[in-house]
Amino acid sequence: MTDCAGRTWQVSGTDAREPFEVQARTRGGRKPHARWRPAAGIDRISTMIREILIWPDPVLKKVASPVDRVDDVIRRLLDDMAETMYAADGVGLAAPQIAEGRRCIVIDTSPRQEGQKLIHLVNPEIVKSEGVTTYTEGCLSIPGEAEEVERAAKVWVRALDYFGKPYELECEGLLSIAVQHESDHLEGTLFVDHLSSLKREVIRRRMKKLKEERATDNAASLRTAARHKSAL
Ligand code: NI
Repeated sequence: MTDCAGRTWQVSGTDAREPFEVQARTRGGRKPHARWRPAAGIDRISTMIREILIWPDPVLKKVASPVDRVDDVIRRLLDDMAETMYAADGVGLAAPQIAEGRRCIVIDTSPRQEGQKLIHLVNPEIVKSEGVTTYTEGCLSIPGEAEEVERAAKVWVRALDYFGKPYELECEGLLSIAVQHESDHLEGTLFVDHLSSLKREVIRRRMKKLKEERATDNAASLRTAARHKSAL
């Protein structure tokens, strides 16, 4: 199996979690996540690490559409999102970040918050919030950047779970921040939109440079691939 980054994994067909765990261990330096399981009854081999869009990108600015029904297609998307989030060592990911304009979020703050686990939020709605707090936030779509953002200290979110069942969750600490940050993504808002325009422009320039560097790297690897082909 080859993932979106062009890496090839050895998947035996018995346990598709293995490649993910190896990468999580290598990249994040933390122990592999024990709770994550691909959905029962879904082709686990097809679950894959997707490419995360880097801001600025017009797709990240779009408002995501509600999900009509939580079916296998949505569950597969949620599985891909979880795998992508863990591989990038993140604690949250919204579907627009992998270019899917659906109102889907995955969050797992357990590496930094006691008593947490992987949660799926489909069509989330923050129904109540309380207090004010600040937190230094990062974003998988804005790599290497972190800035203090003001958020509600506590929120109550209503959503559909992995099986389409409605539930409500009371969120505090990092979970509350993550729910607000990811819900913002569904509205086309990123944490940089909460900053001064000056700070935002500085980050925009750094992201532009990062994208240019990545494009150069890709071009270089394509040229190498071409050379390998002609060597035959
Ligand atoms: Ni983000």
